[in-house]
Formats: sequence, structure tokens, C-alpha cells
Amino acid sequence: MQLIDGKAIAAQIKREIAQEVCLMKERGLRAPHLAGVLVGHDGGSESYMASKVKACEECGFTSSLIRLEEAATEEELLDVVRHLNADASVDGFIVQLPLPAHMNEHRVIEAIDYRKDVDGFHPINVGRMSIGLPCFCSATPAGIMMLLERSGVATQGKHAVVIGRSNIVGKPVASLLLQKRNPGNCTVTVCHSGTPNLAQITREADILIAALGHPGFVTAQMVKQGAVVIDVGTTRVPDATRKSGWRLCGDVDFEQVAPLCSHITPVPGGVGPMTIVSLMRNTLLAAKKEIYTD
Ligand code: GUN
Repeated sequence: MQLIDGKAIAAQIKREIAQEVCLMKERGLRAPHLAGVLVGHDGGSESYMASKVKACEECGFTSSLIRLEEAATEEELLDVVRHLNADASVDGFIVQLPLPAHMNEHRVIEAIDYRKDVDGFHPINVGRMSIGLPCFCSATPAGIMMLLERSGVATQGKHAVVIGRSNIVGKPVASLLLQKRNPGNCTVTVCHSGTPNLAQITREADILIAALGHPGFVTAQMVKQGAVVIDVGTTRVPDATRKSGWRLCGDVDFEQVAPLCSHITPVPGGVGPMTIVSLMRNTLLAAKKEIYTD
């Protein structure tokens, strides 16, 4: 069994990005600038945002954090989005999700200029990704593809099973695995809460992507010997032995499943660090106007 060390792979890619940023600065260009909008004080969102700001520092980017209170109106948030769309000093920006229940996530995402949508959530980027056109690709799926590529996992002709159909992980990763390129060219099955005989399907997987947000859901009986298992779960579960009072728990029962696998990602230190690196990569591409030239 080979542990896929997302932390080490992410650190390597961050070094590569930082080198490129050094070259840009040497040529008199300004550093890429990522802005983040955080509404409210959700613990998970606060820590994701702090990690993104730290990654910007490591890559030599400029970052700005714009905070709105939980009680802010959707119109106030849309005003911030319009301001960032128009600000030529900002290459890309993200609105951290989830938003408070009184805001419409789709309306907010659609208000973002797709040329600055480094999260890859805007329907234009989602659509372009699904037909294989250059775009900002959603960070977690892009991170998973980079993990597979850099770990030397062959995907060609393999049966990939995705558990979960969210717009930001399940659907886009299924779409990327399906594309006729490398990594990709898989036969893809997407399972979800309405799938009968789920274990029967997951046992057929050469590559199993668990992205349902249910700690420890994937057990040994659901995995074929020699499978590649990618765990996207990051649920906070109470843990009295930790100073924080919680720990991150994946969707896979690692102890049971790892001995069966050819490759597996740990939680933490697997997909999580790659998601942030994908965001850095998209921001660099935005700054260099590599995807959208105007
Ligand atoms: N919430 C959970 N994951 C993400 C992400 O990748 N981007 C944003 N904006 N919000 C998230």
C-alpha cells in the first residue's frame, strides 16, 4: 500500500508556483492577487480562509480578505462582488461557502466575473470544463487529478466510482475522470444517497473517490483489493484528546481500508492541501491571463 502524500505534493507545487512568481517579479510584473470574501464566522470557513491566506504568502502572492457580518444582506455581498469584478488590481477572488441561509448561493456565484472565478464555480467555467475547454477548474477536483498524475496512478480504461454528487466535488471530478485525456479516460459511475446496492458498485471500482461528507462511510467490504482510494471527506468530529476539541475525519475508515489498497490518501494531508494549491494555480493562471486573455 502506498500512501499518497498530498501535503508533500502540494508543497512541491507551491515551490514551483513561487519560482514562477519570482520570475514574474524579476520581469517587473506585479505579484498575483487573490481576494477572499468571508461572510460570518463559521469555524470551518475561518480555518479554510486562513489556510488560503497562508498559501498566498508561501507562493509570493498578494492576498486580501474582505469580511461581512453574518447579518449582512445579499445585496451588500453582491456590492462587494461587483467591486471586486471591477478592481483591476485583483486577479481572482472567491466567496467562501457556505453562505448564511438568507443568501442565494447561485445568485452570488453567477454575479462573479467568470474571468476572475478562480474557484471555478461559475456556470461558464463549469460548462467549459464539462466539454473540455480551457477554464478555471473547480479546486478540489483539479487537486484530485493532480494527485493521481503526480502519484503515477494510471487512469486510462479504469473504472472510477465517485460517491457523492455535489456541484463542487462529485459532479466535476466525475466529469474530469471521464474526459479523453490523461489523467482521465475512465469509465465513470457516480453513486449517491439514492443508489441501491452501493457496496456492490464500489467493489467494482479500480479508483474510488469518496466525497459524500459522512465520516468513516467506506468500509473494507466496499473496496476491491488493489483499488486506489481518494478520500475527500473533511468532517470535524468531537475529540476530547485534542486542544481544539475536534479532529478532521475522512469518509473512509482508513484503518480497515488502507491494507486493501494499492494507493490511498490520508485525512488530513491528502486531498485538502491539494485543493488550496489548485486555487493558487488558478490565481496564477488568472494573473497571467492564460485562460481568458481579455
Ligand atoms: N467551501 C468548501 N470548499 C470551498 C471551496 O473550495 N471554495 C469556496 N469558495 N468555498 C468552499
